[in-house]
Amino acid sequence: MLSLQSTVPFTLTLFVLLPLLVLLEPSHAIRSFPIKENGDRGWLPVFAEAPEYRNGAECPVSSFKGCITSCDPSHVHIAMTLDSEYLRGSISAVHSVLRHASCPDNVFFHFIVAESDPASPRSLDQVVRSTFPSLHFKVYLFKETVVKNLISSSIRQALENPLNYARNYLAEILEPCVDRVIYLDSDLVVVDDIQKLWNISLSGLRVIGAPEYCHANFTRYFTDGFWSDPAMSRIFLGRKPCYFNTGVMVMDLVRWRQGNYRKRIEGWMELQKERRIYELGSLPPFLLVFAGDVEAIDHRWNQHGLGGDNVLGSCRSLHPGPVSLLHWSGKGKPWERLDAGTPCPLDHLWSPYDLYKPQHQQQTQ
Ligand SMILES: *[C@@H]1O[C@H](CO)[C@@H](O)[C@H](O)[C@H]1NC(C)=O
Ligand SMILES: *[C@@H]1O[C@H](CO)[C@@H](O)[C@H](O)[C@H]1NC(C)=O
Repeated sequence: MLSLQSTVPFTLTLFVLLPLLVLLEPSHAIRSFPIKENGDRGWLPVFAEAPEYRNGAECPVSSFKGCITSCDPSHVHIAMTLDSEYLRGSISAVHSVLRHASCPDNVFFHFIVAESDPASPRSLDQVVRSTFPSLHFKVYLFKETVVKNLISSSIRQALENPLNYARNYLAEILEPCVDRVIYLDSDLVVVDDIQKLWNISLSGLRVIGAPEYCHANFTRYFTDGFWSDPAMSRIFLGRKPCYFNTGVMVMDLVRWRQGNYRKRIEGWMELQKERRIYELGSLPPFLLVFAGDVEAIDHRWNQHGLGGDNVLGSCRSLHPGPVSLLHWSGKGKPWERLDAGTPCPLDHLWSPYDLYKPQHQQQTQ
């Protein structure tokens, strides 16, 4: 890891970064947002109100009586992105977490919204609030200029959603009192008590935990140019790098902040701009920094790849073993296939969490 510091140029990174992340308190700042005429509620999907999920008697009691803040030590912190395109997926994911949580009142959601989203943060905030009236959450604005500068080296990359990179910035976006967070993608449902995932300890000085897949061919995530340059491939010396999916991660934000992991990831992104060391995506820089050094969480917490490939019409089946989280990573999304009348068998496991109210009901509002 130390060699990374010397191989990667950081000057530009420092220059670009400073003013670009903005933290929003939804109860204050979001109200002062310029509101589009009639808001965005007219075209955003409409959701039914979720059933209310409440803590059982055995749940730890909040130490901040009557005042919910994200600094409450009894909270389980979950970070997700929220955008108009995947809103239906996000709402299902939240619903699934609450439904299976032993202490749903103790779950606190941190939603990251992109500045470029056609829906305003305010209207996305309102959708969440009206769907889950008693949910503890906060909405943050992600100014993606910083990421755009880091990935704009080709047209193809410009098409990538900068929000994919928001997970790199959680340690700065969330309040300093949040010392651990579970990051979740929007195309998944949790079918087990999230507290179990929260309780997993990160041994040694590990910064993140995620299921590892050591049989996956790790070579293919990087270019021949990367592997043939000893100065680069040396980065994996002394560790056994394995693929992991960044859609489900337990992150120690204290260690992340101390080790300045944002800069380490961005350093590789800068290098990628100069010479192509990996193919498109937000994953390879994560692999470069963490692969071989992640806490291996049970595979049940990320049964990924269920999206398969819509173009090929392929459906995936589950990996063997128990399941605590189903993840439709890949091209196909369950809501699209269900709406099109061509669902994969496992898409029916997503439907029970869907709160979307179809179009004709929207028009009567
Ligand atoms: C998580 O850890 C806490 C504190 O150690 C414990 O009280 C609780 O039972 C654990 N919950 C689960 C679901 O493992
Ligand atoms: C892994 O992928 C690389 C590059 O695509 C290929 O050259 C290599 O043969 C693969 N290794 C295995 C074990 O499949």
